[in-house]
Amino acid sequence: MALKKQNPVNQDVEDSIDYLNLLVTSGLALGEVADSDELLNMMAETAMNMGNCEGCTVYEADEGLLRFRLTRNRVLESRGVKAPLKNYTVPIDLKTAAGFVATSKKPLNIPDVYNLPPESPFSFNPSFDVMTNYRSRSMLVIPMCDSRGNVLGVLQLINHLVGENFSGDVTPFPQRVEAYLKALSSQCGVVMRNIRMAEELKKSRIETVKKFVKASEYHDTDTGGHIERMSRYSVLLYRELGFDDSSCEVMRLASMLHDVGKISTPDAVLKKPGRLTPEEFEIMKLHTVKGYEVLRGADSPFLDMGATIAYTHHEKWDGSGYPRKLKGEDIPPEGRVVALADVFDALCSRRVYKESWPIDKVFEELRNCSGSHFDPQIVEIFFDNLDEILEIKAQFPASDPPTTAVPSPAAKVEAQTETTAAPASEVQAEIKKAS
Ligand SMILES: [Fe+2]
Ligand SMILES: [Fe+2]
Repeated sequence: MALKKQNPVNQDVEDSIDYLNLLVTSGLALGEVADSDELLNMMAETAMNMGNCEGCTVYEADEGLLRFRLTRNRVLESRGVKAPLKNYTVPIDLKTAAGFVATSKKPLNIPDVYNLPPESPFSFNPSFDVMTNYRSRSMLVIPMCDSRGNVLGVLQLINHLVGENFSGDVTPFPQRVEAYLKALSSQCGVVMRNIRMAEELKKSRIETVKKFVKASEYHDTDTGGHIERMSRYSVLLYRELGFDDSSCEVMRLASMLHDVGKISTPDAVLKKPGRLTPEEFEIMKLHTVKGYEVLRGADSPFLDMGATIAYTHHEKWDGSGYPRKLKGEDIPPEGRVVALADVFDALCSRRVYKESWPIDKVFEELRNCSGSHFDPQIVEIFFDNLDEILEIKAQFPASDPPTTAVPSPAAKVEAQTETTAAPASEVQAEIKKAS
């Protein structure tokens, strides 16, 4: 919405109403933004409408620098010129208008950047104008601060136009425009602070999960990028099953937790250099229950989903899995998805107790197990998205297992019961022999 100037007598009043409308509208919309890109785009668009100007640049403050985030310029856009400002940074000091504003935390309203007063501590760099055959003239620079007064960025508007709908001569920015843009910038600063806090929280949550998984992997033999790949396979299958982006984000972390219950499996069982007795195999199976007990009950969507996955990733579609012998759709979709992702990656990977299977044999195995071990719909989704699956596989190549490791029949039992009926029967035979 561009500001309209219809009646010179009531112009100020009408402008004020327009500005307030823009502020209220943007205030409501800002409550919905999901990330800083969306916020800054909205800020730039609203600021250009309020400022009735040709261009806008938004910088984000980042460790002593102002980092260029986006620029808009209607004149250059109409000529098809792209702003060459990617990766551009400005030090937060007094030598540039943006740096000056970030340092002083006060707006600058400059009538003509080519005629700065001699006492001005900053200068104007005309290289961008020269490069794009553009003429900057009036400039309004506003700090974006949070409620505590910390500078989070700088908003810089170029060339205020006196006519309506982005037309007419370039003139200095009026004082009232400056006042409303300060209000807009404050709104955006508060939202930006909240977004940054949410992003930091998300980052630390991911790190916490990864550390937790790593701690449980010290205890396990089946690593080598398995967690990263199977988490991505799981997200892909889950997405194609119809779950939305935020559920898939939860799945990304939750699937990594599928085997954390192994942290409670005694080394004597997990790393036993010999055959497992039936009793030991029963202990091994308990990693599903233990994982569930560790993760459940937290007020967190990804720990909640992690608990479900830990509990159900060894259940089988035909009801022959463990620990509860759930059948078909009684198994939650999260468990069904991870079951396939987990086994696919296990078969493709070399372990201390087995070579990786040839990919054709793995595909044949998955097809054979459709309707017995795996949900047939998920097997179908897997093969419908094979290109993306193989891209993930290539993107995170498996590292070889440690050559000094002792082959672990315990792990073998675990892997074999994860796959087919045939190996499972071999396992049973092995168990019988051992006992
Ligand atoms: Fe498992
Ligand atoms: Fe696994």
